[in-house]
Amino acid sequence: MKILIAYSSLHGSAAECARWLEKTMDGAEAVNLKEQVVDPSSYDRVILGSSIYGGQIQKEVRDFCKRYLGILLQKQVGVYVTCLTREKAQIRQFLENGFPPELVERLAALCAPGGAIYFSKINFLERMFSKFLLNKYLKSLGMPPSDGKTDYVNLSKEIMNEFAKQMAGSGEKAEQ
Ligand SMILES: Cc1cc2nc3c(=O)[nH]c(=O)nc-3n(C[C@H](O)[C@H](O)[C@H](O)COP(=O)(O)O)c2cc1C
Repeated sequence: MKILIAYSSLHGSAAECARWLEKTMDGAEAVNLKEQVVDPSSYDRVILGSSIYGGQIQKEVRDFCKRYLGILLQKQVGVYVTCLTREKAQIRQFLENGFPPELVERLAALCAPGGAIYFSKINFLERMFSKFLLNKYLKSLGMPPSDGKTDYVNLSKEIMNEFAKQMAGSGEKAEQ
């Protein structure tokens, strides 16, 4: 079985998930939509992966869905999003904002494993804003603040593993 992982990531967390899924799932091939064009026709299943900025998925993933919607609707499709929140209502909102409703309705699996802020990779302005955002989030969880320097990586392998199982057809249908 051939599985396409079509993803777009700004700073690397959605890419990290794509690489992990590619390694874990037999027949999976990860394609970075920022670098490569891919036609999903020849794949059996498709995983769409994106990070979230300001409540929105990455443009490349949105464009890919629009362009190949007819083909995607004929396949088993799963979505993962990387973002700080794991709150279901918010994740649902991100899906509804970014993906065609026909696709959201019939997703085979959905995964929100968490997110990452790689302070070591971003510029001064991004660092200021990301620190503000992350600390607001950590405060909402009653957790200590970030120093704005140490990379924050909170991607759950367990959640991704469950998603991989669902996409491989051996798990229960995703709760959406
Ligand atoms: C400018 C900015 C906006 C963000 N907006 C959101 C958001 O709306 N919701 C959320 O849960 N996380 C948000 N995040 C956190 C990112 O989704 C998270 O860091 C993600 O792992 C980034 O993925 P990437 O490394 O693949 O780009 C935001 C981060 C930044 C820097």
